[in-house]
Amino acid sequence: MAAFAALFLFLSAAVSAAAAFQGISLISLLSSLTPTANPAWFSDSNTFAFGFRETEDGYAVCIFFGSIKERTVVWTANTDNPVVPDDVVLVLTEDGLVLQKSGTEDILSRIDNSSQPIASAAMLDNGNFVLYNANASVIWQSFDYPTDSLLPGQRLPPGGMLLSRAAKTDLKTGIFRLWMQYDANLVLYYMYGLDTPIDAYYSFETWGMGNNVSLNLENDGRLGLYNGSVLQMSLTAGGNPIVGAIYLVRLDWDGILRLYNRSLEKEDNWKSLWSVTEDKCLPKGLCGINSYCTNTDGDAECRCLPGFGIARDGEWSAGCTSDLRVDCRDKNQTRGYEMTSVLNVTWEDNYYSASRGTAQEHCKQGCLQDCICIVALFKDGECRKQKLPLSYGRFSPNATDMAFVRVNSLNYIHPGITGQRQRLTDVQKNVLLVSIWLKFCNLYYVYHSAGVSLGILGLLMSVIIYYVRRQRGWCNQSQANKQSLDKFVLNHGYMAPKRYSYNEIKRITKSFTEKLGQGGYGVVYKGKLPDGQLVAVKVLKNTHDNVEEFVNEVASISRTSHVNIVNLLGFCYERNKKALVYEFMPNKSLDKFIHKSQSADPNCSLGWRKMYEIAVGVAQGLEYLHRGCNTRIVHFDIKPQNILLDEDFCPKISDFGLAKLCVKKQSMISMLGTRGTIGYIAPEVFSRNFGVVSHKSDVYSYGIMLLRMAETGTNVETKSSQSSEHYFLEEIYEHVVVQNEKIHALMTEEEEEVVRKMLMVGFWCTQTAPLDRPSMNKVVDMLQGNLQSIQIPPMPFLLSSPKPQFSCSLPVIVETYATPYGLINHYQPRGTLP
Ligand SMILES: *[C@@H]1O[C@H](CO)[C@@H](O)[C@H](O)[C@H]1NC(C)=O
Ligand SMILES: *[C@@H]1O[C@H](CO)[C@@H](O)[C@H](O)[C@H]1NC(C)=O
Ligand SMILES: *[C@@H]1O[C@H](CO)[C@@H](O)[C@H](O)[C@H]1NC(C)=O
Ligand SMILES: *[C@@H]1O[C@H](CO)[C@@H](O)[C@H](O)[C@H]1NC(C)=O
Ligand SMILES: *[C@@H]1O[C@H](CO)[C@@H](O)[C@H](O)[C@H]1NC(C)=O
Ligand SMILES: *[C@@H]1O[C@H](CO)[C@@H](O)[C@H](O)[C@H]1NC(C)=O
Ligand SMILES: *[C@@H]1O[C@H](CO)[C@@H](O)[C@H](O)[C@H]1NC(C)=O
Ligand SMILES: *[C@@H]1O[C@H](CO)[C@@H](O)[C@H](O)[C@H]1NC(C)=O
Repeated sequence: MAAFAALFLFLSAAVSAAAAFQGISLISLLSSLTPTANPAWFSDSNTFAFGFRETEDGYAVCIFFGSIKERTVVWTANTDNPVVPDDVVLVLTEDGLVLQKSGTEDILSRIDNSSQPIASAAMLDNGNFVLYNANASVIWQSFDYPTDSLLPGQRLPPGGMLLSRAAKTDLKTGIFRLWMQYDANLVLYYMYGLDTPIDAYYSFETWGMGNNVSLNLENDGRLGLYNGSVLQMSLTAGGNPIVGAIYLVRLDWDGILRLYNRSLEKEDNWKSLWSVTEDKCLPKGLCGINSYCTNTDGDAECRCLPGFGIARDGEWSAGCTSDLRVDCRDKNQTRGYEMTSVLNVTWEDNYYSASRGTAQEHCKQGCLQDCICIVALFKDGECRKQKLPLSYGRFSPNATDMAFVRVNSLNYIHPGITGQRQRLTDVQKNVLLVSIWLKFCNLYYVYHSAGVSLGILGLLMSVIIYYVRRQRGWCNQSQANKQSLDKFVLNHGYMAPKRYSYNEIKRITKSFTEKLGQGGYGVVYKGKLPDGQLVAVKVLKNTHDNVEEFVNEVASISRTSHVNIVNLLGFCYERNKKALVYEFMPNKSLDKFIHKSQSADPNCSLGWRKMYEIAVGVAQGLEYLHRGCNTRIVHFDIKPQNILLDEDFCPKISDFGLAKLCVKKQSMISMLGTRGTIGYIAPEVFSRNFGVVSHKSDVYSYGIMLLRMAETGTNVETKSSQSSEHYFLEEIYEHVVVQNEKIHALMTEEEEEVVRKMLMVGFWCTQTAPLDRPSMNKVVDMLQGNLQSIQIPPMPFLLSSPKPQFSCSLPVIVETYATPYGLINHYQPRGTLP
């Protein structure tokens, strides 16, 4: 403490009085340095030097130890790009300390940023390089701009940071950061994260020590936290020899904060007195994405996931990549792949789907059969399918985590899959920025709501981060920092849909010439992308004017990827013009093939097998939408018009998510469809008396559709003289389901069984009470299983009784998107699965 005060006094003296110049050699204006001839200005005792220092790639402007053999660098100018050309001159001018091209007046860069005219400079014996004005006041000093090191007497003020260098001998900024937070906590972070607790790897937990807390290194090696000038806490003991010894604290390139000492003897070496941890794998991000860190013989070693290769040779922090692309069109997903295991490695959990109470083998198979699943984490009976890339992998022998990773099986040659990564345009990046903002805000929310389980750390940090970010205008997309964006793009890059301008949309659709159809949310046009791919462009009407919501929604739609869900390729967002670009489906929609539907083409028939396959496909697509854990998607508009058919008549669900994007002008659609058919909308959507709106509302709509599909081929219309719909269904129920009569004389046994199954499931799905309807995965099981194992459903009340009169003034309740919707943020603390 005394040492610190003395030094403080010394500094303030140097600052204020010309008398302090006694014994300090001043550097006068127009003095200059060149990399080779006259490389440095030395302090009086020669301990420190300011000037050019040779590095691996060339010269850099630095402060380094001048008298010892190992000329250790303690400060670097322009750490973003420190290496300077060989033919430069460093000149002290009145207007700044500048680098000029040799023999010219061209200023290449400036070292200081003082606003006052400079009169002189000095390299002080404590390692501080200072600039003075004419009154001998310090107007700039290197101690105020620490890079990766602190020297005795130097202070890291509230908000101050140390940034690690890229490698031992590469002075560029690396990937770790020590932050003296405004809340007094001192925290180590991976730099390209989002400053959330997820990206922190060490916290000294020193909050609450005051509002002006700084980190100081003292002459005797004490590393202390001071509130103003009052010592609050010593991180290292101090009391070491002062005479002839020198101390240095540095955030090393490997992410570990260490305190070093040595004597000033020329031949001595630096010794580490203290370090924040002995675990070299602790710093997050040391091993980049898709790789994990393991300690071998006390050193960190990075390993790629099976099937992955290192992204950039010799640069582990760049992580690992894989060319594995799974073709979602291949219906046999298990073909050509197998799952390998990685044991005892923990990861940042970033899942898109989670299930509880599963067995290991089931988890493996589940991932294998899901074409977007590359990695699933399994722990304590919980299976979590991960979004790639995986971050922060770390081997820890005691962890019981297992990762299952999809790899190509050796004995299968994959047909060429064209799955190149898309490069993001600037426009897309802007869009993604909005998403980052959302991610941040969501995290903020999550931290608050889960504050107890995450501890005070998370809470305090989120408050402080929120505050700091507001100060920096962080929630303003133009200022969001590029590094966060890079991480985000890494995370979401190639999954992001492309953004089109309205003009491009016009070009794609040839000025909206070919209309494909018209739905509740807008008109659909046929179009062609520049690369020749056919697309369907849906121009939305009545959308909300909230860009965040729109982008969030688009992101969530685009994250879904399933063989039975139509692929969103891009979108357009301009003030009043919003459009979604989907893959084009040559066989239009299912309603064309459903009997009695307005648009049915009587010459088209799909046959029983196909109808059944479509039914199963739609059920699987819906199951996929429903099963998401904190991003469960309810469609709310399942009907044949929204089931599109590709060239093989494989069904694709479209239009989900639009309920949220669009304002429903007329709040009430008739419960009864056109021509008196039973509508597809579940009763609880009309009236709360029937129950709560949920994913079971989709099950109802699906059930109606199933009955329609089954009915198409029964051809029994002629059998019944009744014109009214429900009598017909009642008849089918009575004769086919209950009395097990043959449906049609010309049907084969197999056809009979399939139709019967569809009818049974259809009646189950249309049960009036939502709780009585099966979930979609049960539906899939029933459809694919044995007919005999399906119990006879009760006759659905709504289909048998005269149609109830519903009040048409009730608004449609769309309230089950209770979870923070949007797949941007999947973070959830462990153990809080709903
Ligand atoms: C110099 O740069 C620092 C940080 O980059 C900034 O806080 C300070 O205001 C700048 N000083 C002047 C005079 O521009
Ligand atoms: C130097 O000090 C004088 C008198 O105190 C003052 O008038 C002048 O503005 C100062 N100059 C600078 C550059 O600070
Ligand atoms: C820190 O210093 C400020 C100003 O001197 C003082 O008001 C505050 O109480 C101190 N906080 C602690 C925890 O000592
Ligand atoms: C914070 O502490 C430093 C060092 O003691 C002091 O120079 C500065 O004035 C203090 N700032 C505030 C706002 O108290
Ligand atoms: C460095 O610190 C250690 C531990 O306090 C001490 O034993 C050693 O003498 C110090 N080295 C020098 C050169 O002062
Ligand atoms: C899927 O592929 C696997 C491996 O080639 C094969 O064993 C299995 O029979 C196939 N399943 C179907 C339904 O074709
Ligand atoms: C693993 O468990 C052993 C015994 O329970 C314990 O001593 C050791 O510290 C643990 N290792 C880690 C890395 O947690
Ligand atoms: C590694 O994980 C496996 C599987 O969870 C477990 O059986 C084993 O005990 C773990 N290893 C150690 C050293 O705990």
